[in-house]
Amino acid sequence: MVGLGTNGSNGHTIDGIPLAHDAEMAWREAQGASQIGPFDYVPPMGFREYWYPGVFKKDVGAKKPVYVKMLGEDIVFFRGKAEKVHALFDWCPHRSARLSQGESEFPGTITCAYHGYTFDGKGECVAGLIDDPNTPVIGKMKAKSYPTEEHGGIVYVWMGETEPVPLEEDLPPEILDSRNHCYYHVNEWDANWTEPVNQGIDYHEAYLHRKTFNYMGGWTKPWKFKFHGLLSKDLPFFRPRIANYGGIKVTYEDEKRVCSNPVNVTYGEDFHPGVNGKWPRKRWYMFLPERRRANFSPMGAPGTSLLGIPSFAHCVELPSKIRTGSGSHKPAISLHMRWMVPITFETSRVWTYTIGPRPKTTLGRMYKYLWYVLWRKPNTITRINEWEDLVTFQRDRLRYDLPQKLSTLDTVVIYFRRHLAMRSRDFQRLGGAYGSKHPPTKVSVDQHVVEQQENVPAGAGDS
Ligand code: FES
Ligand SMILES: [Fe+2]
Repeated sequence: MVGLGTNGSNGHTIDGIPLAHDAEMAWREAQGASQIGPFDYVPPMGFREYWYPGVFKKDVGAKKPVYVKMLGEDIVFFRGKAEKVHALFDWCPHRSARLSQGESEFPGTITCAYHGYTFDGKGECVAGLIDDPNTPVIGKMKAKSYPTEEHGGIVYVWMGETEPVPLEEDLPPEILDSRNHCYYHVNEWDANWTEPVNQGIDYHEAYLHRKTFNYMGGWTKPWKFKFHGLLSKDLPFFRPRIANYGGIKVTYEDEKRVCSNPVNVTYGEDFHPGVNGKWPRKRWYMFLPERRRANFSPMGAPGTSLLGIPSFAHCVELPSKIRTGSGSHKPAISLHMRWMVPITFETSRVWTYTIGPRPKTTLGRMYKYLWYVLWRKPNTITRINEWEDLVTFQRDRLRYDLPQKLSTLDTVVIYFRRHLAMRSRDFQRLGGAYGSKHPPTKVSVDQHVVEQQENVPAGAGDS
């Protein structure tokens, strides 16, 4: 099952699956240790021509604005008793104090703390509270404004310089389906936004999370025994774990996303001639046969699926969303989705969307809430994503400026860095991406974006 982007299929197949041109290119490139760099086409500070989650609406006070840094820009959110939350560049156009130090004196406006100039949602100065009520600067002083829209209690911000697209185009389709329900978790990670994307599609799980694999279905040490491995109807405790993936294949591609699965999973143990040894060690209690699945997650459970797209292990979606197969095989459900919002070059705000069918009964809602709070959040989001994933690539533990040799495990990473990046709106609308090796060519460059590019550490754009 392959969806074809604008590229069309060229008749080639992998494992009998026809592939569009870009998927085959990425697959071939991966066979030769590709040297495509993290920022050859991908911008170090994020694709700009997109909507991004900014802030929870409930956090924007009737008086108190909220400051959020996104894509290197300082943004103030405010509403002041009005329904809609607005977003402005945080530096006051008068004498450059922070607007976020001010407050909303009137609905839908923000008043700067310093001299009391007051701005509306479009950034227009509408009053100078201690100036002449008819001060001539009204209509002349203007702050940069960002289009905002709301969905599910979150204020999304258009970070582009061209006309915004409808918000729905950039939201994960699963949350647009009212039959689904979503929990949101937000945390700041000390890492450039691209690494949490790359590691969401790079199939590191069978090694980095190998102990979790044992947790899921058994034990490495008696005191780490997990009873749910015994209780699950699949009896994963008694089955051999995934030893290796046997390569990665692209199973779906379209204008904004790519999905993938392992090619040929080996369970139990496998012999590696280069070290003349087997890895990992199969244990005596893994006597049941392995659970072979056509599509599955890297954890061995059924893969995740997306509206109209069957089960897959890993998926990346523009501008910076990843899904991993970690739960449901039912259509229209993606249980584990992560949306990275760049803050600075080396920090990101990571929004984890836990999406599933909306429970129909009070008991169902209670069960789901307990499942999320007691299991999903502490185990997957905190323990796996923050204690195992993030600590491997957080600040000072991963270099972005050294050359990388991408492997066959990185087929989707190559696809993202080269083909999906070039399909982004930044390339379509601006002719390139700010800060990457391919800066925009079609439009004149905004001063603030030039400054932001200069703030990217030296070498960030090199591979
Ligand atoms: S600096 Fe904002 S009102 Fe003067
Ligand atoms: Fe991971």
